[in-house]
Amino acid sequence: MAEEEVIIRPLSESDSLEELTELLHRAYRVLADLNLRYMATHQDVNVTRDRIKNGRCFVAEMDGQVVGTITYYEPGHSKGSPWLERPEIAHIGQMGVAPELQGRGIGTRLMNYTERVARGDGAVELALDTAEPATHLIKWYERLGYRFIEHTTWDVTNYRSVIMSKKL
Ligand SMILES: CC(C)(COP(=O)(O)OP(=O)(O)OC[C@H]1O[C@@H](n2cnc3c(N)ncnc32)[C@H](O)[C@@H]1OP(=O)(O)O)[C@@H](O)C(=O)NCCC(=O)NCCS
Repeated sequence: MAEEEVIIRPLSESDSLEELTELLHRAYRVLADLNLRYMATHQDVNVTRDRIKNGRCFVAEMDGQVVGTITYYEPGHSKGSPWLERPEIAHIGQMGVAPELQGRGIGTRLMNYTERVARGDGAVELALDTAEPATHLIKWYERLGYRFIEHTTWDVTNYRSVIMSKKL
């Protein structure tokens, strides 16, 4: 199984942010095709760098290739929704897995890894946001233990977001 060959690790200096950006574009293509303009569908490498700067980026590596990623923000680093701004709430963003490897458990491993990091930081909850019309993602997050908190709207997207959160 692919997930047994996959390691989750922090992004390193030698990882290419250009390749990471390409990976995000490929992963999020399915959402662009649904006309959901997530930042990661089209962001350039400078935006990838900026979004990582205030957080910690982790990657899934398989056979020496980066095949998945997630960025984690410790509590106190979020703006844009009352829940995200609470001092005990950590959150995640720009998560994607190479399309040809989706549905094989890599995303769940990225989430589990990040939940462990957040617990280690003393976060009480781990939150995320996604597009309200992306019902397949909302259901997946619910299966992982996340619950609906509130709606918010970002200037840079074309949809209303749902904030979801899980008690750690
Ligand atoms: C969301 C995403 C990161 C999840 O990663 P993943 O490696 O596919 O995740 P997993 O394999 O651990 O879980 C995917 C779930 O969808 C189900 N699934 C079934 N067929 C699938 C398929 N063809 N593709 C993806 N998921 C599938 C899996 O069974 C699994 O459900 P379960 O955990 O209840 O068994 C990944 O699908 C992705 O990159 N999607 C596009 C970008 C995106 O949506 N990012 C998040 C924005 S908020």
